[in-house]
Amino acid sequence: MKFIKVKTYEELSKKAADIIAAEIIHKEDCVLGLATGSSPIGTYDKLTEYNKEGTIDFSKVKSVNLDEYVGLDGTNEQSYRYFMNKNLFDRVNIDKANTFVPSGTAKDIEKEGEEYDNLIKSLGGIDIQLLGIGLDGHIGFNEPDEFFTAATHLVSLDPSTIKANARFFESEADVPTKAITMGMMSIMQARKVLLIANGEAKKEILEKAFFGEITPKVPASILQLHPDLTVIFSEN
Ligand code: F6R
Repeated sequence: MKFIKVKTYEELSKKAADIIAAEIIHKEDCVLGLATGSSPIGTYDKLTEYNKEGTIDFSKVKSVNLDEYVGLDGTNEQSYRYFMNKNLFDRVNIDKANTFVPSGTAKDIEKEGEEYDNLIKSLGGIDIQLLGIGLDGHIGFNEPDEFFTAATHLVSLDPSTIKANARFFESEADVPTKAITMGMMSIMQARKVLLIANGEAKKEILEKAFFGEITPKVPASILQLHPDLTVIFSEN
């Protein structure tokens, strides 16, 4: 594991974008595993900048996102599909047909999960997976549990996650209580994993996840077993 500590969110975003940009330059048709939330916004801004100045070309890039709220379709401003379009896809020359987010409105979420895992396999797996981390140690929406779940699956969100995500909604009551998330198999099978976290509040969980016991009670701790993991932390 490479653990990189920087001072500012700006530096973190540039480092993360540089790592992803290098992947795109090295393999023009690479598969990016992408995350939502506040952590990657600066990274997406930087990638957009690199694309606009001609340093990177997204025309052959494919992407698979980690998760989506159950019940929200892509036109809903709180959906993760909407977030991705707004923060990255609509700003770069990626072909939207090559961008995938699990469907939160599929009739059969179990089946959607199976199809999503098959899709990832058919794309040849993920070249680099970008992750944030929840205050409870979740990655994607893999919440603390008694066991790790391998496949893309339906989850009930932890009360602490609902609280943390309420900042994006009008009220806590509006936050969906269920989500569909990539499981640990696709994340752990990604050829590279890049986890970013910023702010004092994330310090304690990073300590537990990367320097503590490997346990499903701290889902991100499984990443200690990944052969190519980079963690970037910034103080603000
Ligand atoms: C988002 C996701 C979540 C977030 C995590 C951290 O697609 O999968 O695991 O990465 O909740 O969120 P932020 O970055 O908002 O602190």
